[in-house]
Amino acid sequence: MKISIIGIGYVGLVSSCAFAHSGYEVLGVEKDIEKLELLKQGICPVCEEGLGNLLNQGRRRGLLSFTDDLSQIKNSDIVFVTVGTPSLTSGQVDLSQVYEVVNQVAGIMVSPSILVMKSTVPPGSGEILKKRYLRKANAPISYVSNPEFLREGKALWDWYHPDRIVIGGENERSIKLVSDLYSDINAPVVTMDITSAEMTKYASNAFLATKISFINEIANLCELVGANIDNVAQAVGMDKRIGGEFLKAGIGYGGSCFPKDTKGLNYISSFKGYNFNLLKAVIEVNYYQRINAVRKIQKALGDLNGKKIAVLGLSFKPGTDDIRESPSLDIITLLLTEGAIVSTYDPLAIKKSNKILPHQVKVFDDIYKCIKNTNAILLATEWPEFQHLNWVEIKRNMQPPYVILDGRNMFNKEQLHNVGFHYLGIGR
Ligand code: UGA
Repeated sequence: MKISIIGIGYVGLVSSCAFAHSGYEVLGVEKDIEKLELLKQGICPVCEEGLGNLLNQGRRRGLLSFTDDLSQIKNSDIVFVTVGTPSLTSGQVDLSQVYEVVNQVAGIMVSPSILVMKSTVPPGSGEILKKRYLRKANAPISYVSNPEFLREGKALWDWYHPDRIVIGGENERSIKLVSDLYSDINAPVVTMDITSAEMTKYASNAFLATKISFINEIANLCELVGANIDNVAQAVGMDKRIGGEFLKAGIGYGGSCFPKDTKGLNYISSFKGYNFNLLKAVIEVNYYQRINAVRKIQKALGDLNGKKIAVLGLSFKPGTDDIRESPSLDIITLLLTEGAIVSTYDPLAIKKSNKILPHQVKVFDDIYKCIKNTNAILLATEWPEFQHLNWVEIKRNMQPPYVILDGRNMFNKEQLHNVGFHYLGIGR
């Protein structure tokens, strides 16, 4: 069985390495020449635990190779599409890369094959792709939707331990062949039509985002009524019908998925004439959490003009250098607009951030230098290393009024109070 994977971004690379690990012959197609060179040398271009090992193992076994020449896929049995589907400013999903690739694949294949869409595409896209491109293909191409549910930083774990594998298609044989690719994984395979599979991906991410915005609203309310979100979220999550995950209050969700997918689903709803009020609120609440963090700091410091603030954490979550849609970037912009002097530190994401942070922001590779002479610290990403800071030393190097806004509720409030900090959490 020959598999081709087009677009060796995050999902494409995980899929390529994992299928090669399962014994399939995999050809990865990537047009970014710099990235391609890294891959050919066995250097993993993304920061993902265990992926470098699988990459090299696959190459050594002769099962995994990479090219920028799309025509080499022509004899593949199964072609996965894993190209990017970014957001346009309207919230609409930009499908230009998907269209281009599927159009090209239709002209390249020389024998019957299956095209599997793993890129996140809005419900209805598969039907459009079939009509627009696949019907005119050189050789018969059967279309299957197989959305991914991989978290960054835990992608390999999620690949091998999924809650379910979703396969949407209209041809029984194609569905069977695609589901057989996952036969070494112990998980239920849920089969359905193409549009339902596409919708499953969006509904899953939108629901998880809803949980986060919901708990953030409860946290905001906790502050007003004098309740503690830690206790509330724990007890609420113990109800099996609700579940304890994605109930961590904070400055909101970021990353390349939730913001894009919630906006994309909202767009498609409007486009179809449906007003998805709940989803709109989820998106709005998520942005409000960022403003709220700045508002809280301002309340504690007074006028922010000229105040020195250290923002700890730039990546959208710990364990990754990915800064896409990271709450800390918006917060930094809001702080600068209010006239604050901002310094920042992140264990992994400095290199990526340097390219996009406003020039006024001072970026440090040492946390103690970053906080020196600041009036306040804003914790934006809950990196484990922040758990073991020497708070006495930190306070000695700061200036009054020693404010800490714990945007991820990771610190021990009493401990920081005892050291003499003015501690602010989210709903605590
Ligand atoms: C997310 C989903 O979890 C994956 O299932 C999905 O496959 C992926 O998107 C995708 O669509 O490709 P990911 O973006 O890697 O994965 O990150 P998550 O671990 O889900 O976290 C997303 C954001 O939510 C982070 O900014 C995190 O800090 C925030 N979050 C998460 C909270 O604020 N509170 C929580 O309780 C959980």
